[in-house]
Amino acid sequence: MLLPTEIKLGIVGLGRLGKIHADNLVRNVPGCRLIAACSVVPEELTFAKNSLQVTELYSSYDEMLASSSIDGVVIVSPSGFHVEQITKAIRKKLHVFCEKPIGLDIPEIEKVVDLIQEHPKQIFMLGFMRRYDDSYRYAKKLVDQGNIGELSVIRCYGIDPSSGMESFVKFAKASNSGGLFADMSIHDIDLVRWFSKTEVKKVWALGKNAAYPELDEVGELETGAAMLELQDKTIALVVAGRNAAHGYHVETELIGTKGMVRIANVPEKNLVTIYDEHGAIRPTSQDFPERFKQAFISEMNEFVACIREKRQPEVTPLDGLEATKVAAACKNSWQTNQLIDL
Ligand code: NAI
Repeated sequence: MLLPTEIKLGIVGLGRLGKIHADNLVRNVPGCRLIAACSVVPEELTFAKNSLQVTELYSSYDEMLASSSIDGVVIVSPSGFHVEQITKAIRKKLHVFCEKPIGLDIPEIEKVVDLIQEHPKQIFMLGFMRRYDDSYRYAKKLVDQGNIGELSVIRCYGIDPSSGMESFVKFAKASNSGGLFADMSIHDIDLVRWFSKTEVKKVWALGKNAAYPELDEVGELETGAAMLELQDKTIALVVAGRNAAHGYHVETELIGTKGMVRIANVPEKNLVTIYDEHGAIRPTSQDFPERFKQAFISEMNEFVACIREKRQPEVTPLDGLEATKVAAACKNSWQTNQLIDL
């Protein structure tokens, strides 16, 4: 039975990440009820009905918005739909959680950011979940307290497991991810802005398809790197890839005038070390759902808490716009081999 105080939510997109968000909303986020789900894949709607007891199932987003009595929507559809779906939900007076990136086209994102800002009573949250990861939050506190002094360098690695390559090639053919920098480095770009509290001034990016030249055919990059200069001269190096043999490698290092902080130096799975004929082995996390399990739960709890407490989250729509501008500049730099000023 739906309690009168429960926030009623709908979700669009029940793919790789949508299923995780839906499951968290049902099992790990008190104070809300997932009553509606929308997907163009019938099996995913059956999953929502049978495994999550979602009662309202839609194959059309417009129909979900028109027919359901939801208070908010969680958008986990392919990135190319985000701007349109946010716009429709905001106009319908709904609260919105949207996965990253906020959109793929800068002028369209600027318009949707204006629209969101014209509706300050509706909560808008973007899925930069690393900001809700316990280790990143701990490191952020250290940096903000001045423990490592003034930042000089930020180094970020975000490399997907090679085991996901086959499904990625399928994903890339079916829908536009925005490219390596908008799809993956966007998290690292957000971390650079979050830790430094400074905007990016210049970027220079490079890329190489060594292990998977077939990615050339879909205009995608397997490995890319960007050097960023921030407005206060802090240097950031962002490496993104889709070919980590050992698992899911997300690592960040901050170098300051008084010390250094590293987050997930080795992307450890747990506290186990295996000693065998290969030596001492530390098992590593294998994919984003495993590494950021806690962060995905915490960010969704924050979204619902923001709705209940009538306050906006720390991560803003402008963070989405600025990070996307930097990612677009990286893509431009890679394609033109030019240093790009923002
Ligand atoms: P996916 O391709 O696995 O799933 C997409 C889902 O959207 C499917 O359920 C599909 O039925 C649905 N869909 C497609 N077109 C639709 C339409 N016109 N109307 C309604 N539903 C539609 O995609 P995945 O990997 O789950 O990614 C979804 C979003 O989440 C992307 O924007 C991606 O960038 C983001 N993402 C974020 C991650 C993070 O680390 N925060 C990790 C993975 C994805």
